[in-house]
Amino acid sequence: MKMSNNTILITGGTSGIGYALAAQLLERGNTVLVTGRTEEKLAMVRQSLPGVHTYVSDVGDPAAIRRLYSEVTRAFPSVNILINNAGIGLKRNLNDTTVRLEDLDKEIRTNLTGSIQMIQQFLPQLKSQQTAMIVNVSSGLAFVPLAVKPIYCATKAAVHSYTQSLRVQLKNSSVKVIELAPPAVKTNFNKGQEELNSSSAMDVNEFAKASIRGLERDHEEILPGLSRLARLIGRLAPRAVFMKAEAQRMIAASETEALLSQ
Ligand SMILES: NC(=O)c1ccc[n+]([C@@H]2O[C@H](COP(=O)([O-])OP(=O)(O)OC[C@H]3O[C@@H](n4cnc5c(N)ncnc54)[C@H](OP(=O)(O)O)[C@@H]3O)[C@@H](O)[C@H]2O)c1
Repeated sequence: MKMSNNTILITGGTSGIGYALAAQLLERGNTVLVTGRTEEKLAMVRQSLPGVHTYVSDVGDPAAIRRLYSEVTRAFPSVNILINNAGIGLKRNLNDTTVRLEDLDKEIRTNLTGSIQMIQQFLPQLKSQQTAMIVNVSSGLAFVPLAVKPIYCATKAAVHSYTQSLRVQLKNSSVKVIELAPPAVKTNFNKGQEELNSSSAMDVNEFAKASIRGLERDHEEILPGLSRLARLIGRLAPRAVFMKAEAQRMIAASETEALLSQ
């Protein structure tokens, strides 16, 4: 699809991948709308990316999604691309059963439910456009889980699966369905978790450039950098799990901490 003269809504555009995509898509002559959870961060985006349009909207809140839809489609009836990028990923020790049940599904609400609800809400708008596209940002970890981020990886595997079915169900519509699976990319996402970051983490602007190239070439699955290798490992060794030793260390450390506090 031609990546100019579109009206593109990106969830989570205040930093990292969403911000880099917004900057490059603006440069190519698209109208770009980004969301984030706070006005402060969005104000900074407006300063550094003149011409961008911003909306405070939490993808974990269905009422906010409904409001976003009505505000966006009123102001920009030409919206034809939705990029579901907003995401969070937490390290979790599943042996720690003191975590409140209500806090267990944070990543699911943002990464999975949020994307599914955004798609349902914007689908009639997208279908009404001559050419339209939904881009779901998954992860190389959709194909092989990382043991220390179990719920995050489960959400990304689910985004991968859901995207496959969505593509089939929208086959006869004007809406193309794309999965964009980043490898490790240097963004805030991995701040404070440097031990998990491979030294080969991709530069975010390089990643955005490769992603837009994939969109232009109509690739249904865009797997920049090491994501292609992760998918291959997932196929050849379906029981593979990354960083098992790190997970064991995390569990041992929290058990020691619990013993010391007794
Ligand atoms: N970086 C990597 O290594 C990597 C690898 C694989 C996949 N990914 C995926 O790529 C996507 C972007 O990640 P990133 O690396 O760019 O991380 P990032 O720099 O932390 O950016 C995340 C973005 O999501 C927004 N966000 C978080 N929760 C939100 C919510 N509930 N509602 C709306 N916006 C929300 C944040 O905005 P506010 O904080 O302003 O709300 C921010 O703009 C995520 O889906 C992530 O899973 C990243």
